[in-house]
Amino acid sequence: VKVAVLISGTGTNLAALIAYAKEPASCAQIALVISNKSGDVEELRNAARAGIPTRVVDHKLYGSRSEFDCTIDRVLEEFSVELICLAGFMRILSSAFIRKWNGKILNICPSLLPSVKGGNAHKQVLQAGVKVTGCTVHFVLEEANTGAIILQEPVSVNTDDTEETLLERVKEAECRVFPIALQLVASGVVRLGEI
Ligand code: GRF
Repeated sequence: VKVAVLISGTGTNLAALIAYAKEPASCAQIALVISNKSGDVEELRNAARAGIPTRVVDHKLYGSRSEFDCTIDRVLEEFSVELICLAGFMRILSSAFIRKWNGKILNICPSLLPSVKGGNAHKQVLQAGVKVTGCTVHFVLEEANTGAIILQEPVSVNTDDTEETLLERVKEAECRVFPIALQLVASGVVRLGEI
């Protein structure tokens, strides 16, 4: 199954997905990496080195969200992509795009949905004083962070944790869970059902 990974950030999850997809048992093949950040993107170089085609689609060059999404969609079609992994992709996709790719978009979230949502998950966790956080891989639906959950991994919150230490430990869990979730979907074991 041909998979595109969309990134905006440091690409830790991307590296984990690429490593997993190289294993003989993997049903997923990373066929394309797209970043919305232009400039010197180290992780795109790493992907290129692994022989994976890379593209930059810079959102700043587009007048609207739908123009940006149409360009992404065109690139996905060009590479015959069948599944999309959002691995720290910080743009919200338009409804039309999400409807078209319904059941085909996986996102990783650095918290246990649905209890903690939003961009500042680790801060919320520390402020609330909860003792367990974690990460969630879910299908993307039109409303952010509401999609069906594919896999989660819990991470204990220690008394001396800071946002940074929590981010690091949750990311380690993300890198374990995302490849497994991708394999579940790519192999057809898990798919988005009717609601
Ligand atoms: C991850 O923590 C992901 O959950 C969040 O963005 C971060 C991306 O990190 N949405 P990286 O680019 O994989 O290092």
